[in-house]
Amino acid sequence: MSLLQREREIIVSNEYIDRFDFEEVEEFIKGASKNLFISHKFKTTDHMLVQPRGGFPTYDKVFQLYKEFKEAHVDVLPLTIDSNTRLNDYASAKKMLALSEENDVDMLNGYPLVNHGYRTTRKMITHYDTPVSLRHGTPDARLLIETALASGIFEIEGGPITYLLPYSKNFPMDKAFLYWKYVERVCAKYSELNEPINRESFGPLSATLQPPAIVIVIQLLEMLLSLEEGVKSFSVSFSQTGSMLQDIVSSNVIKKLSRKYADRFGHEDATINLVYHQWMGAFPYNKEYSDSLINTSTVIAAMVGADKIITKTRNEAFGIPTKEANAMAVANVKYTLGMLKGLPTVGDEEEEENLTNEVDEILEAVFNDGADTLWRKVFNSIKKGYIDIPFSPHIINANEVITIRDPQSNIRILKKGKLPISDRSFAFERSKIKLAEGERVVDKIIQDIGIML
Ligand code: 5AD
Repeated sequence: MSLLQREREIIVSNEYIDRFDFEEVEEFIKGASKNLFISHKFKTTDHMLVQPRGGFPTYDKVFQLYKEFKEAHVDVLPLTIDSNTRLNDYASAKKMLALSEENDVDMLNGYPLVNHGYRTTRKMITHYDTPVSLRHGTPDARLLIETALASGIFEIEGGPITYLLPYSKNFPMDKAFLYWKYVERVCAKYSELNEPINRESFGPLSATLQPPAIVIVIQLLEMLLSLEEGVKSFSVSFSQTGSMLQDIVSSNVIKKLSRKYADRFGHEDATINLVYHQWMGAFPYNKEYSDSLINTSTVIAAMVGADKIITKTRNEAFGIPTKEANAMAVANVKYTLGMLKGLPTVGDEEEEENLTNEVDEILEAVFNDGADTLWRKVFNSIKKGYIDIPFSPHIINANEVITIRDPQSNIRILKKGKLPISDRSFAFERSKIKLAEGERVVDKIIQDIGIML
C-alpha cells in the first residue's frame, strides 16, 4: 500500500463517519455522470457559469435549496460547509445537526458534510445531476474532501494559503501546506478515472482592500502547487475591487500570467479557468442598493470575460440568505448576463505592465528562496513578509502592507512593507494616491473599506 493510501486509511477511520469503502468510491467516480463534472461543463459551455453559495444544516433544507436553484436555471450548485466542520470539530457539528433536525431551527451556518456522510449526500448530488462546488475555508480539509469526492462533488475550493491566512489566527502553516498536498494528490488520483476534478483557489482573501499583485501572486502559487501534484483543471479567482478598470486590468494580467507560469513549469496540458466573485466586502443595508451593486458586478464580470461568476444576494448585510432570495439572485444575474452581448474589449497598457511587473518581481523572490521544494519557498516567503495579506488575522502574516484607494477607486499600495517589488513599480503605485490636505490615512482607509455602504 502506498504511503498516501496508508494516510487515507487513517484519515477516514474516524468515530464520526461510517466505514469508508475506497473501492466502491472509485467505481462510483469511474461511472459518474459527466454532468457532475464542472471541468466538463467548462469545456462544453460557451456562456459564463453562474454559481451561488449556500448550505443549511439538514439534508432536507439543502435538497429544497437545490430545487429552488434549479428552477432559476443555476449552472453550478454550491455546498457551503458549517464553521464547526471547517475547524474539524465534528462533535459540535453532530450536536448542532441533531438540534437543527429536532427543532426546525438552523443551528449551523452550513452543511456538516462529514456527519451526514457520503452515502446520504451522494443521493442528493446524483439526483440533481448538476456540478456541485464545495465551499468551506478549512486548513485541514482531508476528511472533508474525501467525503465530498465520494459524494460526487467534483469541484473543491481552497488552498494552503487562501484557506489559512484569511480564516485562521494560529493554525500551523506548515501543516496546512502538507494537508493541502494530500488534497491535491487525492484530486489528481481521481482525475484519472473520468473527467478531471477541478480545484479552485480563493482570490478574495480577507476581502478588504486587497492589492491585485498579492492576489495574483497567491493565485499563481496555489495553481502551481496544485498542478505539481497532478491536478489538470484549475480555476484562479479574484473578487470585485471597486474599480472597473482595476478588475479588467487584473483579469487581463491573471489570464496571461496563469498560462505563462503553468507552461513554464511544464503543465501545458492543464486547463485554467477564471472565476469572478461579486463584491465580497460589506454590503449596504438597503436591498435595492444591493440589487444595484449586484447588477454592476455582473456587468463587470462580463467585461472581464470570466468563465464563472459567484453571486451574492440582497440579504447579504443581514446574514445567511433565504433560499428564495438566493435563487432570485441567480435568476437576476442570468437575466443580466443574457443582455450583455457585443461587449468591447478594453484594457490599459500602462496599468497592465505595472501589475505584471509587480507579480513577476514577487514571484522571482519566492522562486529564489533557498528551500528545496515550492511549498517551502512559499512558506518562507510568507514568513519573510514577501507575501503579506492586508487584514489577515494569522499570527504569521507580516501585516506591514498598507493599501488605500486612489481617486478612481483603484486599490494602491501606500506602504509596501517587505514586498519585493521594484522602486519603479512602487513609485507607480504611490504616484496614483491623492490624500486631501490634512486627511488622516486611517480615516481614508475606513472610508475605502466601506465604499459600497
Ligand atoms: N448560505 C448561503 N450563503 C452563505 N455564505 C456563507 N455561508 C452561507 C450559507 N450557509 C455566503 C455569504 C458570505 C460569503 C462568504 O458566503 O454571502 O458573505
